[in-house]
Amino acid sequence: MRVLSGIQPSGKLHIGNYFGALRQYVELQNQGHECLYFIANYHAMTSVADPQELREYVDEVATGFLAVGLDPEKVIFFRQSDVPEVTELTWIFSCVTPMGLLERCHSYKDKIQQGLAPSHGLFCYPVLQASDILIYNSNLVPVGQDQKQHLEVTRDIAQKFNNRYGEIFNIPDPYILDETAVVPGLDGQKMSKSYNNTLELFEPANAIKKKIMRIVTDSTPVEDPKDPDKCLVYAFLKLVTSDEQRGHWHKRYTEGGMGYGEAKKELTRLMNELLETFRSRYEELNKNRDYVEDVLAEGGKKARAIARDIMEKVRVATGITAGKQ
Ligand code: ADP
Ligand code: TRP
Repeated sequence: MRVLSGIQPSGKLHIGNYFGALRQYVELQNQGHECLYFIANYHAMTSVADPQELREYVDEVATGFLAVGLDPEKVIFFRQSDVPEVTELTWIFSCVTPMGLLERCHSYKDKIQQGLAPSHGLFCYPVLQASDILIYNSNLVPVGQDQKQHLEVTRDIAQKFNNRYGEIFNIPDPYILDETAVVPGLDGQKMSKSYNNTLELFEPANAIKKKIMRIVTDSTPVEDPKDPDKCLVYAFLKLVTSDEQRGHWHKRYTEGGMGYGEAKKELTRLMNELLETFRSRYEELNKNRDYVEDVLAEGGKKARAIARDIMEKVRVATGITAGKQ
């Protein structure tokens, strides 16, 4: 089974990215699938205009993936732009993609509402994503719920291409990551790079502590029972506790006699315990930028070899180059 997914380098990685995506990517790598993971730097251009910023985010995401446990011995890890065939395929796909298919995409409308410039790149974002997926003949694409529609567009494009030019592309399946894993932000909305409400994966222990201590809780007196499901501190505790620990804290909330300060202190300890392993690996890797670059370059070569083969078939099938048909 070939698994493929990408992440945009459009900001600093946060614990929502970890629990919602990265953790599952690492699990899939350890289940013996052939995994391709990439940094979608062309996609990020739809929201990041500053070249220096884009470079920094790419570096951070590359280092971050490795720091949380992605193993370059087991997966092909690369930068989207190291496979230029992807942009070539995007044009070809653009010519089989009906406008209506893209006009229906929620993500485009949502991003414009959030203030992104309605560029052609943003509009045809799903076509580039279809190329990312189809060029490696991927079977399974792990993504968050918000990407479901983009996967449907991908499948549509593959079918339209195959109908017109012959069966070249495999029709991939989405693998929707656990919806219940949506991590709330410090303000209670979904945690997101764009909302300034994150616990970053690699920020210092002290900064994490300050952010946790500032979480707003209600004014239930210490001795009264509290509803854990209405408390952001508990929502975060759930992410970092074992079943047994979770049971313990659930009881502490509902029994009364517990102050939010106590829960925050424990959350800080557990969160920093997890993040400390990531931070220290991140710092190690950061001292060795050449290694990170080598991993990406090596991954790029492997990914490109797969992409080249399929592109050759596409060029012939579409009449772009001569060849036996
Ligand atoms: P952001 O919203 O911060 O810009 P992205 O859209 O780049 O994040 O998401 C990258 C990956 O992380 C996606 O697979 C997405 O589903 C996952 N993800 C992002 N935020 C969360 C969250 N708050 N909870 C769970 N998963 C998330
Ligand atoms: N659009 C995806 C996101 O915002 C990132 C992405 C780009 C992607 N190309 C992909 C995900 C291909 C899966 C497969 O999260």
